[in-house]
Amino acid sequence: MTTERIDLDSVAAQLAELRDRALLEIADAVDPTALDRVETAYLGKKGSIKSLLRHMPALPAEDRPRLGSAANAAQDAVDAAVSERRVRLESLALEVRLAQEATDATLPGRPLPRGSLHPSLEINREIARIFGQFGFTVYEGPEVETDELNFQALNIPDDHPARDLWDTMYVANEAPEGQRYLLRTHTSPTQIRVMEQQKPPIRALMPGRCFRYEAVDASHQFEFFQVEGLMIDEGTTLAHLRGLLDQFVAALFGSPRPTRFRPGYYPFTEPSVAFDVQCLICDGAGCPACGRSGWMTILGAGMVHPNVLARGGLDPERYQGFAFGMGPERIAMLRHDIHDIRTFLDNDLRFLEQFR
Ligand code: PHE
Repeated sequence: MTTERIDLDSVAAQLAELRDRALLEIADAVDPTALDRVETAYLGKKGSIKSLLRHMPALPAEDRPRLGSAANAAQDAVDAAVSERRVRLESLALEVRLAQEATDATLPGRPLPRGSLHPSLEINREIARIFGQFGFTVYEGPEVETDELNFQALNIPDDHPARDLWDTMYVANEAPEGQRYLLRTHTSPTQIRVMEQQKPPIRALMPGRCFRYEAVDASHQFEFFQVEGLMIDEGTTLAHLRGLLDQFVAALFGSPRPTRFRPGYYPFTEPSVAFDVQCLICDGAGCPACGRSGWMTILGAGMVHPNVLARGGLDPERYQGFAFGMGPERIAMLRHDIHDIRTFLDNDLRFLEQFR
């Protein structure tokens, strides 16, 4: 039987070497998992420091306690280094996290694309604001309307030639007997809805989208806005309409301007007029924009026809009223000198961004 020849110095030297290697590996551990691995390798039950103790029996008895305390000292040193490294790794991780989450308040902000109201809506709001000052309240009617309200209730029976004034898009779907749906060709049917819902005095403003089966060109679009106005009371006259419209023109264009009524025709008003404003571009001298007439037409209007009042449930002997209808796009065109109504629906940002 051979006894392993071993002495304290050589074991102590191995111990020192193990400890130093452990300390190096601890310093190199880049994350907690790597550190755990080093810890188990040196300090674990089967760790290398413990396994050196297997030499214990081969040592002379008086050397054994010294090996024991040398091993303890080595373990303590490694243990302390592991704890220290663990704290360090944690604080490094925190630093990294903070750096990742940090905001640099000195960076210039990213520009946010800012939208704006579509020019048609913008002008609608402005018209509503002006009439609001005269006590008008905004009402809205449906875009898909009945033939009954769009035409018949407005004094335009089936097969009446006046229907030719409006190129209509009908809706192909099931409708109750004797009824037809269409995309409203004007906002005038909302007049009836308001009369049915409210008793005079009535002051209503009815903006909304309208549709016509148009041959589209620079001044005709198949989809456009209208703003309808309706005022009904006892003793309402055309003079009230004229006064109101003159005030409207002054507010819309910034100062009073000459205006005029011309005779017009609508089946649902009698008498009917076209309302003109002195040309904004040539001040009446005559230019290409006003067809050399010096005037620009901005709306159609008239006294509400007695048949229409009666259809709305009002007594035409007692009440009179006026109604008007204007095209906000046309007004925006006058105001901003826009020459083609199609630009309103083109969705071209180069056009739209000019109205911020
Ligand atoms: N509804 C008419 C149109 O679309 C305009 C109008 C409204 C005329 C109210 C008179 C009264 O042309």
